[in-house]
Amino acid sequence: MSDDHLEILLSREKISERVGELATAISNDYTGKTPLLLCVLKGAVFFLADLIRELRISVYVDFISASSYQGDRSKGTVDILPLFTSDIRDKDVLIVEDIIDTGLTCAALTDFLTMHEPASLKLCALLNKPSKRRTKAVQLDYVSFTIPDRFVVGYGLDYDGKYRGLPDICTLVP
Ligand code: IMP
Repeated sequence: MSDDHLEILLSREKISERVGELATAISNDYTGKTPLLLCVLKGAVFFLADLIRELRISVYVDFISASSYQGDRSKGTVDILPLFTSDIRDKDVLIVEDIIDTGLTCAALTDFLTMHEPASLKLCALLNKPSKRRTKAVQLDYVSFTIPDRFVVGYGLDYDGKYRGLPDICTLVP
């Protein structure tokens, strides 16, 4: 039995409604283009799966892995594993992230992907937690929800690998 205390912060209905709105905005902005949605493993997988099914444009999908967290703390360094097989050069790349916290992961991903010379590079995040930002170099083009400085799990987000499968986004007090 776990002693973790969970409380719903964003319900599955609220998430679904907002993901639909985001998909409409992305479809409008990329009309006539076929962007490459680069999903950051592992947390953004659920978000990506729901988002692409709401889009009205065709997209390519590929994956990249980035990790900076141990438990509920940022290590301060980012490990990137480029799992994608797509050619990034000259593509309209949209990074799909679960949550932007310190911003270090995004900054590292942006630097890394810029070296591959995409036609454009934008960032879409399910959650934005701006209170702990440690870099100014984050431009969030699409965001579903801005949340307070709480550790959250569910809908792909984990605590030490647990709770990704919760359908709602919950605050966690270990
Ligand atoms: P950043 O580099 O500090 O912006 O952290 C981004 C990464 O940290 C995310 O992709 C998550 O994997 C993890 N992270 C940050 N905040 C949370 C949280 O509240 N719950 C779960 N993971 C988080």
